[in-house]
Order: sequence, then structure tokens, then C-alpha cells
Amino acid sequence: MKVLLTGGAGYIGSHTCVELLNQGFEAVIADDFSNSKPEAVKRITEITGKNVDLYPIDICGKVALTKLFEEQKIDAVIHFAGFKAVGESCQKPLMYYRNNLDATLTLLEVMKEFNVNKIVFSSSATVYGENNPIPYVETMPITGCTNPYGWTKLMIEQILKDTANADPDLSAVLLRYFNPIGAHPSGRIGEDPSGIPNNLLPYVAKVATGKLPKLGIFGDDYDTVDGTGVRDYIHVVDLARGHVAALQYADTHKGVEAINLGSGKGHSVLEVVNTFTRVNNIPVPYEIKPRRAGDLPEFYANAEKAKELLGWEVEYTLEDMCRDLWNWQSNNPDGY
Ligand code: UD1
Repeated sequence: MKVLLTGGAGYIGSHTCVELLNQGFEAVIADDFSNSKPEAVKRITEITGKNVDLYPIDICGKVALTKLFEEQKIDAVIHFAGFKAVGESCQKPLMYYRNNLDATLTLLEVMKEFNVNKIVFSSSATVYGENNPIPYVETMPITGCTNPYGWTKLMIEQILKDTANADPDLSAVLLRYFNPIGAHPSGRIGEDPSGIPNNLLPYVAKVATGKLPKLGIFGDDYDTVDGTGVRDYIHVVDLARGHVAALQYADTHKGVEAINLGSGKGHSVLEVVNTFTRVNNIPVPYEIKPRRAGDLPEFYANAEKAKELLGWEVEYTLEDMCRDLWNWQSNNPDGY
């Protein structure tokens, strides 16, 4: 099976590409490198010993995307491409809606034209919004998000549901990610955020290398195990394996399914920082800061549906995530 990965040079895309190639799939990447580097694609080949056809295109452009589909016999698509910074999405909502929705609409139109009817979409636990009780289950009512980035994920889920309703041949799997962290155990690919990181683990990694002086922990007075925020962290290789399982599911089932990819367990910010320090023997200086606007105290997945439908569950622990993150960061202190 030949799989197109839109945004395949990015953090989750590159790890998924490695897992696909290792399991005998062929892969084609379309990526405009707006938030990724061509070096990641070279390293995918280095890890797997397999070639990937690379199209350095913006998939919002229908002409370029059509050419790709003309040149490659694509059987299925995993759609990662999209802007993903929550804060930036609040400052530039139109840019987020235009890019993320346009990319998806163009992709679905071209897929239809070429009779490609399997798609796995990179959604997010952010679609559960702020009013659902934890753990989050796929059957919960979805009523809205707290930021434009989240809304684009929710809107794309809706677009895929409507498209699948109108087209009985389409199969779509909406993967709702919890908090992906860590890196490939080889230390050759990993997360490479531009500028000062927003997310916890990339920030911790920069403090550990000495590039940033101190981590700010956003709030220690939540009603959680130790007062700091609790999240469901998932090793990026487990997440990547989840995409392969979702693709196999889409190959044999029609219709649309939303599926959580999380461990089902929560860890606090302090637990994460202490685990990172313990397994890597590196101090991470921190100070307690006020709560960050828009943060929820605690959320984690109910991971049963992924187990039942995909036969998938996490294999890596928080220790593995912290060790592999440091292996990547210490070997690539400036990223790619
Ligand atoms: C955020 C996004 C989510 C997105 C995900 C990508 C929000 C509300 N949600 O999730 O939509 O899919 O990133 O991974 O922004 N923390 C600190 N100090 C820091 C950074 C984070 O204490 O410097 C804390 C946060 O308060 C939170 C936890 O660490 O409790 C995780 O934060 P983060 O990595 O930013 O992820 P989320 O906010 O859960």
C-alpha cells in the first residue's frame, strides 16, 4: 500500500513514516517545510534504509497536489499538515482557518478525483473542550473549543463526517491525540520547534541543554495530585504505531470513527520534571508561575476504543519518553 503523508516531515509525521516503512508500506511525503526541515526526510531514510518520494509543496495548491496524485498511485492518506500553535492561532485566526481548512478541502477534492477513499486525520483531544468530565471518551458530546487551532480540528472532523455520510466508499479515522512527547529511540528524529517552545517537554529539553535558564511551572494550586497540571503523555513512537493500526482499520472498514490515542493515565508537571531529572541525571531548574490562561487542571484519555478497534495500546513509559527526548536533544542541541 502506498501512503501519502501530508506534513510528513513534521514531528509526528516523520515518526509515523518510519513505522510505515518498517512495516512494509510505501510512503510519499508532501510538506511545504513551513514548520519542518528536509533533513528529517533524509533521516527517515537513514533509519529505515528505504526511500521516500518527497514533494516540497503546499497542499492548499490544487495544481501541485493534483500533479502528485497523477505521478503516484496513492492508496491512502494520513493528513498531518496544518498550523498547530494554540497561542498564535488566537492572534492570527484567519491564517489558521484559511490554511488548515483549505488544505483539507483541497486534499479531499483531489482524493475524490483520483478515487482514493481512505484517510487518517491528525485530530486532538482539544476537541473535548472545557466542559467534559475526565477521562475523555469518544461518545461524549463535543460542543466547542477554546481556541481557533482547536476549532480547526473540530471543523475538519465535521467536514470528514459529512463527506463520509455523503460518500459510502470513504473511510476516515479521526485520531484524537493526547500529549505526544519523546523521540525516536535512535536519537535521529525528534521534535524541533522553532523559537521558544510553548509545550512542556520541548521547554524542559531546552532548559536541560542550558539554552533556556529556567522552566516556569504554570500553577501549583490546581485540584490535582500535587497542585500542578495533569496530562496524558504518549510516546511519539506509540502514537506513530497507532497511525499504522488506524490505516489498517480504514482499509477494512467504511465510514468514520473518532478514536483517542492516549495512555489512559495522567502525569503532573512536577512528576514529568522529576522523572526527566531522575532518568537523565540532569537538573531542570524551575519556578512556580501563575496559571496559564486557557489551561485545564487535568485531562487524560479513556483508551479502550483504540484497544478494541485497532488492537493498539501504549508500550512506552514516561521514563522511556524522558530518556528518548534527552537522547534526541543532547545529540541535536540545535535541532536538525
Ligand atoms: C497544548 C494545547 C493542545 C495541543 C497540545 C500539543 C492548549 C490549551 N492546548 O496542550 O491543544 O494539542 O498542546 O501538544 O494550549 N506547562 C508548564 N510550563 C510550560 C509549558 C507547559 O507548566 O512552560 C504545563 C501546562 O500548564 C500543562 C502541561 O504543562 O499543565 C502541558 O502543557 P503543554 O505541553 O503546553 O500541552 P497542553 O497545554 O496540554
